Amino acid sequence: MLRSNIVPVDWSTFGVDLHLDLPLGPDAVTGRRLAIERAIRDAVRSARLAPQTRLPSSRALAAELGLARGTVSAAYEQLVAEGFLSARTGSGTVVAGLPSPVRPAPAEPTVHGPSDRPRYDLRPGRPDVTSFPVDAWLRATRRALAHAPSAAFDYGPTAGRPELRAALAEYLGRARGVLATPDRIVVTTGYVQALALLTRAIAGRTGATAVAMEDPGLAYHRDVVRHAGGEVLAIPVDHSGARTDLLATPPYGRVGAVVLTPAHQYPLGVTLSPERRRTAIAWARAHGTLVVEDDYDGEFRYDRHPVGALQATAPEDVVYIGTAAKTLAPALRLGWLVLPERWVEPVVEAKHYADRHSDTVGQLALADLITTHTYDRHVRSRRLRYRRRRDLLIERVDGLPGGRFTVGGVAAGLHATIGLPADGPSEAEMLRRAESHGLAVADLGAHWQAPGPHPAGLIVGYSAPGDRAFPETLDVLIRVLRSALR
Ligand SMILES: Cc1ncc(COP(=O)(O)O)c(C=O)c1O
Repeated sequence: MLRSNIVPVDWSTFGVDLHLDLPLGPDAVTGRRLAIERAIRDAVRSARLAPQTRLPSSRALAAELGLARGTVSAAYEQLVAEGFLSARTGSGTVVAGLPSPVRPAPAEPTVHGPSDRPRYDLRPGRPDVTSFPVDAWLRATRRALAHAPSAAFDYGPTAGRPELRAALAEYLGRARGVLATPDRIVVTTGYVQALALLTRAIAGRTGATAVAMEDPGLAYHRDVVRHAGGEVLAIPVDHSGARTDLLATPPYGRVGAVVLTPAHQYPLGVTLSPERRRTAIAWARAHGTLVVEDDYDGEFRYDRHPVGALQATAPEDVVYIGTAAKTLAPALRLGWLVLPERWVEPVVEAKHYADRHSDTVGQLALADLITTHTYDRHVRSRRLRYRRRRDLLIERVDGLPGGRFTVGGVAAGLHATIGLPADGPSEAEMLRRAESHGLAVADLGAHWQAPGPHPAGLIVGYSAPGDRAFPETLDVLIRVLRSALR
């Protein structure tokens, strides 16, 4: 009979869990002892067992393995003698620290944003995470868990917890003018997952794989669509927003959806004009296609009454996507789609095969935060702070001699663009200078899909630093800009 020669052992009954790969076979006592020694040695060498990890007692390990206690004791003694383990009376056998690191710590993946924060952080797309309402979140989690039925800890509904969908329907209608009922809402792990699910669902139901996306836009989002099997067609953006008037022209004939940021275009910051809104809806109705509304920073409008969601004008043609990444924190991985009725089932199916459903505990906590209006209060207080930062940024940049920099896209959102003078240093050179000051900003150039030339500029995410770090961070930005005037 064929058997695997690896026996995974979980020490779940011994207070400490320990997994060892032990080859089956050696029957002689020495063979078994050597097998234990080798398995522990390998685990220590590969740093899978960290220094100071407490091992099960020799009696417990022997009982679990069905071996004589003496066999395990002998293995432990040998490993103590070799310096892999250390035995202290009273505290049992622990893994000893090896003199030199066995394996260098794996590098943090840097593909989608290194976890090391730059000293001065003005990267766009990030809220001030130092203002995350930790206490309120803890209270909401505690309340939500205290009231949750035990069934809430089982697998949940793919579309999301009913508590959260009901809270979102009320909030989105009230704060963003979205026409939403709980049965049209699907909770996701953020905007990015919503975009991927839609791409798959549209291709699956209509066969259309082409998606029109604003140019400039976030290259990462284009890649998300491509990874989900979609093809990206660039749709240019001007001062009135995306050129939705072009959707009726031949290159876009194959397109199943257009993705727009109507409230505050990313990255140029313009608002989609009423005319372009009407054109987009008319196109979707005429072709049975979809408009996807990314409302990522719709809550942060400073100068006028908030621009209502496009979805409200055509709920059967527009998919609305929102996220908690900007209002609370990206780490929560919570977003939501409000769907036309015919798209609920295909999107739920895509979600089911992606990850079954999003984390229930976070969903319940967010539902509590929204229904107690703590969410509203947090958003309002952040809006006020971000608005002050934006005002300061404009004042300081406008105060630079010569009026050579133009601040744009400032009516809303968490970032501004700073146009660079054509006869000054290039974007790349400005990024280099920023970096040499420990400052991280983004360049507009990285956001275009169509070949240039394009106007040069920086994207300044003024929401990223903590409240206390912001003034100094702004000073550093001004220093870098000033250097371009010399
Ligand atoms: C234009 C835009 N939309 C949406 C998001 C939010 O994405 P997610 O909810 O996946 O964090 C971002 C984040 O940077 C963004 O820049």
